[in-house]
Amino acid sequence: CLSICEYQKPFVPIKPIQLIEVKAKGRFGAVWKARIGDSNKEEDQLVAVKIFPRQDKNSWATEVEVYQLTKMRHENILTYLGAEERENMLPYNAEYWLITEYHENGSLSDYLKSHLVTYLQLLKISEGIARGLTFLHEEICANKPAIAHRDFKSKNVLLREDLTPCIGDFGLALIFYPGRSFCDTLGQVGTRRYMAPEVLEGAINFSRDSLLRIDMYALGLVLWELLSRCSNQDGPVGNYMLPFEEEVGPHPSLEDMQEVVCQQKKRPEIKKSWKETIHLRLIVDTIEECWDQDAEARLTASCVEERISCHRSYTFS
Ligand code: ADE
Repeated sequence: CLSICEYQKPFVPIKPIQLIEVKAKGRFGAVWKARIGDSNKEEDQLVAVKIFPRQDKNSWATEVEVYQLTKMRHENILTYLGAEERENMLPYNAEYWLITEYHENGSLSDYLKSHLVTYLQLLKISEGIARGLTFLHEEICANKPAIAHRDFKSKNVLLREDLTPCIGDFGLALIFYPGRSFCDTLGQVGTRRYMAPEVLEGAINFSRDSLLRIDMYALGLVLWELLSRCSNQDGPVGNYMLPFEEEVGPHPSLEDMQEVVCQQKKRPEIKKSWKETIHLRLIVDTIEECWDQDAEARLTASCVEERISCHRSYTFS
């Protein structure tokens, strides 16, 4: 019988967990759709279980540390339910489980593959993502240090039933505890496709602000993915493409990304019609100010949140 623990409590077995099917495979193992409870009744809660193999224990530990920080509860952050070290039958073959809320819509990337979004949905999703990143990046008193995600991408944003986005996957995150120096030996982490030019060039300075700006570059790419699937635009909407898929294909090497992003300074295509449509213009400007080559010129998450939120209230009024 497997167990789940409550948020921030010791690992207290409550109810058994039944794994149902694999929903996603990532860098650190697989995410399962699972059921808590011992029957197939309606009241059984569906959860997501991410199973890390033994060699990825550090990522599991980082992710648990991020979720367990007091004050890490936020509408736009994936809700943590528990974590567990599970002994397997074989010696030295423990698995590490992370249990979170389950969202049937899956990730933003999954959703955009099979759905278009209206302009109002685009604004809601973008604002929610920016709000989640603002929360992550900010330091709130002593309880919530600033955190850099370092692997921000559309696969790491989940969509609740009403399309409210929530950010997950903190296995590479860096927590900036006040008064503590942080050491990071691995500068070039994350997903190549979403790496900022300074990361691709190995030219990062390890200050807190430079690490937060790297997340903002990736936010620009995610907003582009949303805009490219927006139904309120002139002309036909193309199939879902990952950022730079047109330029570097599905499995780019580091050299491919360096060539396109650093040498050619290219970004995913912004259609002329988007720039000419007054309501899309705000999103285009925001995207371009997030993925600026010059990291210091990039918008902050709170600035993106404020811009979109003002625009959203104006659009709804
Ligand atoms: N894929 C990855 N994490 C998930 C989650 N929490 N819910 C649904 N699908 C997921």
